[in-house]
Amino acid sequence: MQLKHLTLLAAANAVTAQSLAEVLAAQAETLSSLTTWLESQELVYNLLAGAEDVTLLAPSNNALQQLNSSPLANELLSNTEFLTAFLSYHVLNGTYFASNLTSSPVQVIPTLLDLQGYDNIAGGQKLIAQSVDGGVSFISGGGLKSTVQAANFNYTGGTIHIIDNILTIPANVSTTALSANLTALVGAVQQAGLVETLDTTPDLTIFAPTNDAFAAIGNLVSGLTIEQLTSILGYHVVPGAVVYSTDVTNGLTAKSLQGTDLNFRVVDGEVWVNSAKVIAADVLVANGVVHVIDGVLNPDNASAAPNPAAETQAPAFPGASSVGGGVPFTSGVVVPTPAATNTAGPGATPTEPVTAGQGKVAAVAGAALFGAGAVVLMGQM
Ligand SMILES: *[C@@H]1O[C@H](CO)[C@@H](O)[C@H](O)[C@H]1NC(C)=O
Ligand SMILES: *[C@@H]1O[C@H](CO)[C@@H](O)[C@H](O)[C@H]1NC(C)=O
Ligand SMILES: *[C@@H]1O[C@H](CO)[C@@H](O)[C@H](O)[C@H]1NC(C)=O
Ligand SMILES: *[C@@H]1O[C@H](CO)[C@@H](O)[C@H](O)[C@H]1NC(C)=O
Ligand SMILES: *[C@@H]1O[C@H](CO)[C@@H](O)[C@H](O)[C@H]1NC(C)=O
Ligand SMILES: *[C@@H]1O[C@H](CO)[C@@H](O)[C@H](O)[C@H]1NC(C)=O
Repeated sequence: MQLKHLTLLAAANAVTAQSLAEVLAAQAETLSSLTTWLESQELVYNLLAGAEDVTLLAPSNNALQQLNSSPLANELLSNTEFLTAFLSYHVLNGTYFASNLTSSPVQVIPTLLDLQGYDNIAGGQKLIAQSVDGGVSFISGGGLKSTVQAANFNYTGGTIHIIDNILTIPANVSTTALSANLTALVGAVQQAGLVETLDTTPDLTIFAPTNDAFAAIGNLVSGLTIEQLTSILGYHVVPGAVVYSTDVTNGLTAKSLQGTDLNFRVVDGEVWVNSAKVIAADVLVANGVVHVIDGVLNPDNASAAPNPAAETQAPAFPGASSVGGGVPFTSGVVVPTPAATNTAGPGATPTEPVTAGQGKVAAVAGAALFGAGAVVLMGQM
């Protein structure tokens, strides 16, 4: 008796819920471009149409038109695997109505992007959701922000939200660090021969000191052996664990790649790693997450603790000082012009700025980390 009742209820739901095709058709004015892309990708389309519990973040016609005939758009339309990855990144694993996306300050949500070469994270690549003034935005690779324009178009597989910008698949660590102007870190990693390790090892959390942080220990840098540099850089990496801001609690410790523990403190909503402050949290990369910090961590000084009331902290290295204002490690590092920055994912051609608005994906993504995007990222750990 009870079972029959349930069956009838389920049938009633199936009748009331619209199919993917019906919802897309009803929203054609806003979603016709995406619909064309989806229909060209049988794999993704069928997955979405037959899904039971997903959320499609659907870029509006305007968002896709801003890509114009940019190299990114050309790549999407000529590289089936890349388009599959791109579309999969626009699908959340789970039905998240607008009312589910109000956690403060941010929520880390798994997407269906779990494709070798584009994602090197157990359980699939993530998106950061945040709620501001009752609205919902998503932060994707490079700090790019997409805002929900219209929410809760329910269909048999879950729900659909229309967003005003495409989501950018997170790039590798090197590319992300360069586009964020973390050139000292990039140079140090090159000097230690760790580029491949940081770019390709799955499931990493990386603490990325700013150029100013490296400058503050500038006098010590030339005296470091490769072994010492490797040890210092290894102390900035937590292997085998992608630690997002939402995972950090006061008193948490995490074992670094170098072997010594990192110590976390949360004071007045700000997060400290040893004595360094997190100034931009949750920068998504292909194999994990990067948090930008304002000091270089010293594995021989794991007990370094901050004075949160002070404007700046003493470097964690004894005898450190900045030398003539220069930034160490940067001499061989070439910062690509935004035109040469590739945020489109492995295998994609370099993205050149295109004329219209958000089509300048690479430039915007890089700038977002420390520009407007910093407002949403900073202090949110
Ligand atoms: C969304 O919110 C509803 C009601 O609180 C809850 O039942 C559901 O589990 C939530 N969904 C997700 C994906 O968190
Ligand atoms: C979606 O999440 C569920 C667990 O919540 C997991 O079992 C499943 O593998 C995930 N699907 C994909 C495609 O990542
Ligand atoms: C979609 O479903 C959710 C949860 O049942 C509901 O809150 C929302 O109003 C629905 N959307 C529309 C447009 O009916
Ligand atoms: C990048 O960093 C260098 C060295 O710290 C600095 O001189 C330059 O102004 C920075 N560029 C941008 C775009 O922030
Ligand atoms: C990182 O990404 C860039 C841009 O896609 C690529 O050129 C580079 O080879 C990648 N690095 C590694 C080690 O795979
Ligand atoms: C450890 O770091 C602190 C800064 O937090 C610094 O004041 C102290 O001199 C350092 N100690 C050693 C032994 O390096």
